[in-house]
Amino acid sequence: MSAIRLIRVLFYGAATQRGATKTQVRRVWSGCSSRSSLCGQEGAQRGLSLTAAASQFELSLTKPPVSGVVSSKLWNDMLEVKFGDGTEGRLPFVWLRDNCQCSQCFSVEGLGRKFLIDDLDVEVQPTKVEESMQGLTVKWSDGHQSEYSTNWLQNRAFTPSSRALHREKYALRKEQWGAEHRMKDFDYNTLMSNERVLLDWLLTMERKGSAMVRNVPQKDVAGQELIEHIAFVKQCHYGPHSPVINRPNSNNVAFTNAKLGLHNDLPAYEHMPGIIFIQCLAQHPGAGGESIVTDGLFAAEELRRKRPEDFKILSSTDMYFWDKGHANYSWEMPEFYKIAKFPVIKVNGNNEVVQIAVSNTTRDSHMDLPPQEVKKYYAAYKRFYIILSANAMTFKMEQGDMMTLDNVRCLHGRESYDADSQRHIETSYLDWDEARCRRRRLQEKFGCFI
Ligand code: OGA
Ligand code: ZN
Ligand code: ZN
Repeated sequence: MSAIRLIRVLFYGAATQRGATKTQVRRVWSGCSSRSSLCGQEGAQRGLSLTAAASQFELSLTKPPVSGVVSSKLWNDMLEVKFGDGTEGRLPFVWLRDNCQCSQCFSVEGLGRKFLIDDLDVEVQPTKVEESMQGLTVKWSDGHQSEYSTNWLQNRAFTPSSRALHREKYALRKEQWGAEHRMKDFDYNTLMSNERVLLDWLLTMERKGSAMVRNVPQKDVAGQELIEHIAFVKQCHYGPHSPVINRPNSNNVAFTNAKLGLHNDLPAYEHMPGIIFIQCLAQHPGAGGESIVTDGLFAAEELRRKRPEDFKILSSTDMYFWDKGHANYSWEMPEFYKIAKFPVIKVNGNNEVVQIAVSNTTRDSHMDLPPQEVKKYYAAYKRFYIILSANAMTFKMEQGDMMTLDNVRCLHGRESYDADSQRHIETSYLDWDEARCRRRRLQEKFGCFI
């Protein structure tokens, strides 16, 4: 079964197909020992930049499965284990019990835990531990017996390398760039027909947040079709694709000939589209219509270094974004009225920047702030925008080009153009969940995790 079908079956397939699909997926994973040239190349490049831990773990994927658990000893509510290849790990008792892999506790078909937290004793202790070539058998103080395979344990052994590998499986490390950046080129038909090239595009998008697709067919739905080849379109009230032309009675400033400052699309959605596809069907021939693109992550980190107070304000103050209007086309929502609220710079629990939201057209005039804080906020926002602009690249898309951008990281804009121009851009969206999902499946298929 191809990766595309696997994903389609997972998303749309009958419940009866699910078990078989997942079993096959497992076989692909355990059976992948060869490495593609793409993965080899990527590995060599990454060797320079990835943490030593992650690289070591990558190497371990090319080695035969680890031969057994050779010893174990109790250490502070944990089991300290030594694997056949000399590596070690500390496995908390409570985690081991919670993650028992027996069929009573875990569904092999559903790949999910059946064991309930209600039944978990946080103070659980092993009463007997046996090591073997296959892995570990543990008898517990609650009377249960668990078995774990060596590879399963080693992949989750709480070591810096196992944690780094899974972090990269979750989301690749982003590589920041400035005005000198040039987007990597991809050919549309090759993306549609060659999964290794598609994987390269997915990896590039996660790392660089930007890529250029060339030789795109001259049809409005070319972006949509590429997205459907990857997964499915992220719908919004403008439908599956939007003609960006100078529309009469336009329902958005973007659909006019006005200059657009640096922005992400649709920050009025609590869940903004992950990736934007901006296709050029016709460019304005004279001056006007040029694109500007910047890496919001780079600018946010620059702000954090140079103006920590501004960073604090922008990452801790929620702003409103809104989008209200009526349909211009039959496929748009007849009447829409969105409001979302989040900081311009969103950080996660580790204080890493995970989203940038900038849009002059949809930034709301309502501000949920005491009035005396407004001017300070504007000053910080303006300084951030200056950094964004100072590190932006400018270019002009041509007919057949389609720029693809991480819409929660990179910002784009365009110069104004003549009101009667034939300029025609089409936009469509794909969510990061689907893009990363496809990346992981292709990595499994080609045996090249990280
Ligand atoms: C938009 C947009 C880019 C362009 O529609 O949101 O950014 O080049 N368009 O017209
Ligand atoms: Zn069990
Ligand atoms: Zn836009």
